[in-house]
This record gives sequence, structure tokens and C-alpha cells, in this order.
Amino acid sequence: MSKDFKRILVTAALPYANGPVHIGHLAGCYLPSDIYVRYQRARNRDIKYVCGSDEHGVPITIRAMKEGVSPQEIVDKYHAIIKESFQQMGISFDIYSRTSGAVHHQTSADFFRKLYDKGLFEEKESEQYYDEKAQVFLADRYITGTCPVCQNPNAYGDQCEKCGSTLSPEQLIHPRSTLSDAVPVKKTTKHWYFPLQDYEPWLKEWILENHADWKNNVIGQCKSWLDSGLQSRAMTRDSNWGVKVPIEGAEGKVLYVWFDAPIGYISATKELTAQWADYWCSEDTKLVHFIGKDNIVFHCIIFPSMLKAHGDFVLPDNVPANEFLNIEGEKVSTSRNWAVWVHEYIHDFPGCEDVLRYTLCANAPETKDNDFTWKDFQDRNNNELVAVFGNFVNRAWVLMHKLCGGKVPKLHEEMLDEADRAMMQAFATTRLKVEEAIEQYRFREALYEVIDLARQGNRYMQEKEPWILAKTLAENPGNQKGIDNCLHICLQLTANLAILANPFLPFTAKKMCYMMKVVDKMLDWENAGKTKLLSVGYSLREPQLLFRKIEDTEIEAQVQKLKANAKPGGTASPAGTETQSGSDTAISLPAEAIPVKPEIVYDDFTKMDFRTGIIRAAEKVEKADKLLKLQVDLGFETRTIVSGIALHYQPEDIVGQQVVVVVNLAPRKMRGIESQGMILMAENKEGKLFFVQPSALIDPGSGVS
Ligand code: MF3
Ligand code: ZN
Repeated sequence: MSKDFKRILVTAALPYANGPVHIGHLAGCYLPSDIYVRYQRARNRDIKYVCGSDEHGVPITIRAMKEGVSPQEIVDKYHAIIKESFQQMGISFDIYSRTSGAVHHQTSADFFRKLYDKGLFEEKESEQYYDEKAQVFLADRYITGTCPVCQNPNAYGDQCEKCGSTLSPEQLIHPRSTLSDAVPVKKTTKHWYFPLQDYEPWLKEWILENHADWKNNVIGQCKSWLDSGLQSRAMTRDSNWGVKVPIEGAEGKVLYVWFDAPIGYISATKELTAQWADYWCSEDTKLVHFIGKDNIVFHCIIFPSMLKAHGDFVLPDNVPANEFLNIEGEKVSTSRNWAVWVHEYIHDFPGCEDVLRYTLCANAPETKDNDFTWKDFQDRNNNELVAVFGNFVNRAWVLMHKLCGGKVPKLHEEMLDEADRAMMQAFATTRLKVEEAIEQYRFREALYEVIDLARQGNRYMQEKEPWILAKTLAENPGNQKGIDNCLHICLQLTANLAILANPFLPFTAKKMCYMMKVVDKMLDWENAGKTKLLSVGYSLREPQLLFRKIEDTEIEAQVQKLKANAKPGGTASPAGTETQSGSDTAISLPAEAIPVKPEIVYDDFTKMDFRTGIIRAAEKVEKADKLLKLQVDLGFETRTIVSGIALHYQPEDIVGQQVVVVVNLAPRKMRGIESQGMILMAENKEGKLFFVQPSALIDPGSGVS
């Protein structure tokens, strides 16, 4: 960090609360920002790290409309899921706020009002498409019709995904609203526009001259926006979901989501600390926005212009945007469900959070789009984390217990040779390389250096072969000194590895501290490079397993799952507007590929209450083609249960069917219906579902164990 900054404020893009987060999100901005922040904290710098859910915008309202719930219900649900995923992955925000909160509404309304009072907005009337049935203005994307070029009947108002033509809604033949099927009509509406073109000269100087050090991909996008000329942009929308436009005559209008969302960084800081103004209203704050590449124009051009216009706030020092992460060679698509969802990963690989962090960082799309493959994930785990890092630490520990009585052995200075010295020098060199790379947002390179230090440790141990020295110890008692020196250095190296790996692999660093019996304070960055971190004679714990091998079957199961859950095509509805996770229904995995879940104890099993029941009534759930709503007689009561079996059974065919129900599962709302239990189903290779039931008809409510 250059000296002129007193404090750092790091932001990570606020994710939309209309679906869970996937690994592309993590790789794009959450993991890099977390690594950066953990490193800066270890340097004891004054730093705050803020994020939160982006809860406004059209896709959320549309989704709510389609599911028959309120937008608030949608964002409440995903805010909780997203927040938990981040926390479980060790993304260490100082605050994870949300834009539907009161502080944010006030802050963004005040911001707008200030620009308005300065007379900076242009007020303009225009004609826009309107859906009279749904009573909403329609973004081009929500109008479909027949493409005038290729006759595709499902082209969008902005583009035909079949022939690739760029369209406008008036070009469509038979246009209709995707919301209600109504024919869109034009209606006049008034909005407030922010004249970006007025900021063009300033932006050119600020970005191209003063911030020429930004990443190439970022500068490249900024250049092309600036070269093609900026235009006024409407900062308000017709909607009743969002921050109300705080001026008279603006009923039914809210702030444009890209106006209010970045102000969310300010609101979150306000919620975090009473000293928020130190961070936002002072030139000696280093403000860094971590984002994905689709957010570049908003963070490098629009938001800075807004901040400049406002006048009270600091501008970003850097915007280290990443490119995209593809999955198994294909672009992530939430509408096609081509994604690896973070909450599912955590469920499928408990205790392996650092493995995902490692893979996503080692393969981060820092300069170009990159590909995530499950095979690469397995290889990185097995060949790097297990075979290099874990192996080094484990060998050092086992040998120390075997040959040095479980204590840190002495260093016999008089015996040190070239190899010993070179090994110890590498601690400090690596520290310098790692910190230089992190300060410049080159996290892949930094991580590579950390692993490389462990690799050097393995080579060093291999060269010294303390186990061979031990074999002839009886004849050559002097060998003990060689053993001591090698293990002393390896243990100090382990302490260094913990410090250096900590920003990337925080869970692992914690385990290493436990093994070393040291407090977190040892992980302070200033300790990196030191060769005397563990004192001679200090007794250390037994080794812990840092990483486990990941088997082929686990990887095959994930690839299968990805393919089985992917929906074909994906052009049927606008991206981001439909169910993303598919988690309402059973997953289709071939039987032999389902890995056995982690072991549980008998008590875990007895917590579950299974009962027999009989389906008394069944009906389809509107607008959910996989769900049936069932009335299940359990003897002691009849319950409503929503089950994802509609593709397999007709409602009329299953009335009278005997089933087994989990009756003490917390109720869960699906499509607005509370489901009060779960029916057990078996699934065959083809993904067909079958009822699990007793071998004869018995009284409903009977226990199953
Ligand atoms: N929700 C946006 C997205 O996911 C990001 C908003 S970033 C903020 O693309 F700056 F506006 F908050
Ligand atoms: Zn077409």
C-alpha cells in the first residue's frame, strides 16, 4: 500500500437477491476481495470490508409476480441463503447488509435529492411499452414476438437468440408481454436522467491518465465506453419496488437499481460503524471495488460520475474486476441451471471449503475467462493440496514426534549447511513475492508462491532424509544434530506456511495453529519470513489431517449432477428470472454414482420421525410443472405436503397410495404453499421416482425405524 493512504475500504459487488450464489460469483469478486482483506488485516492495517444483498430491480419483481409472492419474500429468502453461503466459505465481510433496509433507503434517497437540488438531472418524457394487464412498464427483454429476420416465434424485444439479430420491440411481429401475454401498448412516462456526457472529459483524465495502472481488462472496457461517447441515462423507473424517488410528482417511481445499489456500499459502512465518514469522506482512504467484468461500466464510469457530482465522497483507487469463470467448457447460465451452487458444494463437500477457495484462486479468471472443471478441482486437491502442502506438513509432524520427542528440536548453528540456509532464506523471499503480488491484485501468482514454498520444503526434506540419519543413530550419535536441524527448519517453515496461506486457506491456517499450539496472533504478516517462530523445546500436538484425497467417484457424481440438472436450451425465459437452483425437486443422479454421504451416529438417525400415511387428495400446483400438492392422512392428522413428483405421477393416479413421510421436518414454503413434511421416494437410473412403502397396507401414522 502506498504511504499516503491511512485506511482501506474494500467493497465486493452486492449480489442480486433473486437466486443463490454460484462459484462464478466467488471466483469473480468475493474470493479475491476476501484474500486481499485477510492479508491487509494480518498487516494490521485499518480496513473495512463491506457487502450486502442487492434487493431491488426488475428481475426480482417479475420473479415475485410469477411465484405469486411479494418481492420482499423473494429477497428475504435469498438474502439468508446467500449470507450463509458466504459465511460458510469464510468470506469475512465486516458487514453483510441489504438494500431493502431503512438506512439504505434514506442514504440513497438523500444522494438522489442532493443531485436533484444541484439541478444536475434532466427531466424527460418518453413513450415506453406498457403491459395494461400486469400494469407495469416493460423492459425490452420482457417483450417477445416473432423475429422479422428468421421468423423465430420466441425472439425478445432486444435480441433474437436464434439468429443473433439485435432488435427493438417495434420490429417484432405479434409482440406480447412475457408477463401476461397482453399486447404491449405505448404510454408516456417521465424520468430523471443523469447527463453522463458532461463527465466525459473528467472521466478521461481520471481513468486514462491518473489510473492507467488499472488492470488491462478494466482499462480496455473503459476506453471503449469513452470512445463511443457517453449519453444521459435514466436514473428512475416506473415501479413500486425500490427506493421511492424523493421528490414531488414522482409517485409510482423508484430509483434505478444501478443508481441505488452502489450507494449500498455507503449505507453498509454507515450500519457498520459510527466512523463511516472517516472511510467515505476522506482523501486518504483507499477505496477498492472488487467486481466481475459485467459490472465494469457501473463502477468505473457511472458510479464515479455520481460520486463526483455529489462531491462529498472519495473515489475508487482501483477496480480490480475479474473476467468470467466457465464451467466444464460452457458459460454459466442460471436459467439453464448450468452452474455449481455454493450451498450445494458446501453440502456435498463438508470440510472442504479451502479446497474450493484454492481451486478458484489458482485458476482465477484474472486476465481472461477461465474454465472450472471438476477434474481440475480433483487434480489440484490431490496433487497440490494433499501431495505437496498437506504432505509436507504431515511428514514434518510425524517425524518430529518420532525423532524429536514431540518437541521443537534445537538448531545447531555450527552445523548449518548451504541447503539449510537456502531453505530459511526462502521464507523471506516468498513473503516478499506474495505480498507484492497481493498488493497488485495478482492472487493466482501469490498463491502459486505459497505452494511453491511447500514444494521447496518437500525437496529439502527429501535431500536431508532425516529418517535415514535415524537408522544409523546408534552407531553415529552425531546424526541427531542433523535430524534436529532439518526438523527445526521444517517446523519453522510450517509456521511460515500457515501465515502465508492464511489469506487463501483460512480454515487450514487455523488447523495448523492448533497443531502448533499457537494463538491467531502468530499469523500476523510481520511474522512471515522469520525463522524463529516456534521456540525450542515447545511441545506440539499430533498432526491433523489438513486435506483428504478426493475420489474419482465423487468427481463423476458432480459431473453427472451438473448435466442431469441442466435444462436444455435456456432461451425460453429471460436470464435470471426463473428458478435457479432446481432444489425444490429431487436430483436425478444415476444410482451407482451417488456417493455415500458422510457417516452419522445413531442419534442423528433417531432424530428423524418417519410415519406411514395415505394420500387422500392430490392436485397440480399452478405454474410449477414439477410440483403436486397432496393431502396426506397420517392417522393423527392430515397434512398438506408439496412434492416434486408431478412429472412422474398424475394426481388422480396416486389417491389412496400408501407412503412414508418425514413428519418432523421444519415446514417449508414452496410456491406460496406451506409443505408440512416430505414423502420418501426412490429414484432409478433413468431418474424415475417410485414411492417407498411398507410391504402391506397398514394403519396410517405407524412409526418407521
Ligand atoms: N447486483 C449486481 C450484479 O449482481 C451488482 C451490484 S454492485 C453494486 O451484477 F455496486 F451496485 F452494488
Ligand atoms: Zn431471428
